[in-house]
Amino acid sequence: MGDDASQSDDPQAFYDAYGDREWDRLEGRIDGRLEFTRTVSVLEERLPPSGHVLDAGGGAGRYSIWLAEQGYDVTMLDLSRGQLDVARERIRERGLESSVTLLQGSITDLGLPANAVDATCCLGGPLSHVLEASDRDWAVRELRRVTAPGGPVLVSVMGLLGAIQLYLVTGHNLEALPELVADGDYDAGLLEPYGYDNEFTATHFFRREELRTLLERNGLTNVSTTGLEGLASVFHDERLRDRLHDVSDAEREAIERTVHLTSDEPAVADLSIHLLAAGEA
Ligand SMILES: C[S@@+](CC[C@H](N)C(=O)[O-])C[C@H]1O[C@@H](n2cnc3c(N)ncnc32)[C@H](O)[C@@H]1O
Repeated sequence: MGDDASQSDDPQAFYDAYGDREWDRLEGRIDGRLEFTRTVSVLEERLPPSGHVLDAGGGAGRYSIWLAEQGYDVTMLDLSRGQLDVARERIRERGLESSVTLLQGSITDLGLPANAVDATCCLGGPLSHVLEASDRDWAVRELRRVTAPGGPVLVSVMGLLGAIQLYLVTGHNLEALPELVADGDYDAGLLEPYGYDNEFTATHFFRREELRTLLERNGLTNVSTTGLEGLASVFHDERLRDRLHDVSDAEREAIERTVHLTSDEPAVADLSIHLLAAGEA
């Protein structure tokens, strides 16, 4: 969720305007660091030792760059030209141009052949920006189709209970929350009747079971789920995060260890601002 983002109900326009803030999201902030380090630890467990990886909805390129630095060939695709421009520049600064191919496109129509890659990532919520439920099914089938049989498919999305909890403790969108909890759709149709602005962009927030069954009914096997920010999800809000400004390095490390020790608990994954599911094509 973009706590300081411009207002837009169109994810493509939102991310075009979001620019470098998407690059900064996973660095410096405790919630971003938790999201990145937990995701990378699951990638290390699940990815084959080498090969071709698709980073679908790769945004500013954080994971594509990490993958290229580990020696993978990467194809990164994103809907937003603005994000692709940020990614191109970051990739060029690191001399990784020969390892990462950039494509503009949608996860609902990947335009790649079947079995094109050894593993597929769709991280940080691209699937949450697909508002039609039938399109989310289609997108998961696409992620599976382009991945070699048995290859890992890793998908992280934005969590509904984590979002509701954050809106409750910050006092945002309160009158819309009973409706949001019912279907997970956060868009102009939900907000406008109450006179609220969309401070993020159109988003479908997921329950843990919903994500697991979405992947399974579209053919992925051995699906497991974990919470990324887990019990520290409230630090996604800037004001709550500010309360940590004077904690010591040892205290910060203890927070991160505590989160990681509890992140696989189903209830914690369900409450997380981002939750990750890993399966096999
Ligand atoms: C929060 S960013 C995550 C970026 C990156 N994966 C990360 O975790 O740092 C979500 C990205 O999904 C992209 N996106 C949204 N809808 C998409 C779609 N249908 N197909 C491809 N990308 C999409 C946005 O443009 C944005 O770059």
